[in-house]
Amino acid sequence: MTSADDLLRDPEYVRSVQYATGRNLAARSGLHDVYGTAAEPFRHWEAALVDWPAVETVLDVGCGTARFWDNPTLSRSLRITLADSSAGMVGEALAAVAGHGYAAPSGATCDAQSLPFDDDSFDLVVANHMLYHVPDPAAALREFRRVLRPGGCALVATNSPGHMHQLNAAIAEATGPFEQRLNEVFGIDPAEAMLRGIFGSIVWHTFVNALMVTSVDDLLAYATSFPPGQLADDAQRTHLRAVLDQAVFDGGGRMRIDTRTGAFVVAGAAT
Ligand SMILES: C[S@@+](CC[C@H](N)C(=O)[O-])C[C@H]1O[C@@H](n2cnc3c(N)ncnc32)[C@H](O)[C@@H]1O
Repeated sequence: MTSADDLLRDPEYVRSVQYATGRNLAARSGLHDVYGTAAEPFRHWEAALVDWPAVETVLDVGCGTARFWDNPTLSRSLRITLADSSAGMVGEALAAVAGHGYAAPSGATCDAQSLPFDDDSFDLVVANHMLYHVPDPAAALREFRRVLRPGGCALVATNSPGHMHQLNAAIAEATGPFEQRLNEVFGIDPAEAMLRGIFGSIVWHTFVNALMVTSVDDLLAYATSFPPGQLADDAQRTHLRAVLDQAVFDGGGRMRIDTRTGAFVVAGAAT
């Protein structure tokens, strides 16, 4: 069993290699954008879970390239703070949000486990698909609760085991078996157990979606954007392309990839 997946939980690798820029993330989010079969993209579906009239100040933790804010229905007067452990990501996120016309967004390069904000500072915390990278996700969740004002809520998106299993199986066929701890450490069940000790109200929402991918190049770009595919040698990459080619052929010109993803809406303090 390779330990390549461990890298994705190593803060130094996460900050300065995997997410030094938005490039790897773009290869993955692009696949979802182009080939998702749901009626709307994840970020629009998730934004609809929020009671926006009650929100003025928002903290987006692990903001990446700020894709959540690419949504024409959201008020441009929201006061958005974009936080990420990667300075490169904060820079890209600020540029993206300014480009979307939001007023005066601010940025912070910081660790979710130790946020540089006062207690009760935000109406909403957004933490999308990031807690599985954090060494102590419960510490980060306690920080979210601390910086939320009474009555505020947090959106916490995550994946579960089985997420994109067809693609992971193809990668394993080419590079050898690998553990997929990311989908386990903060999958729905462990995440819910962790949230129960911290927040008073916890509701899980499932995003029903499957990708139907027609381009082997796009599949390969996704598969080689993170370990172990990213660490594959030339022979393994050639093998991976052949496996993906076959999968698309077998699917009549498209490869079906199932997702296991969604978001918790959490609020209040556990008693
Ligand atoms: C999978 S990306 C998700 C980006 C964005 N939330 C989205 O959904 O498109 C994970 C992001 O979390 C950031 N991250 C990872 N560990 C972090 C930590 N301990 N504190 C703050 N940000 C972190 C990464 O730099 C990366 O930008």
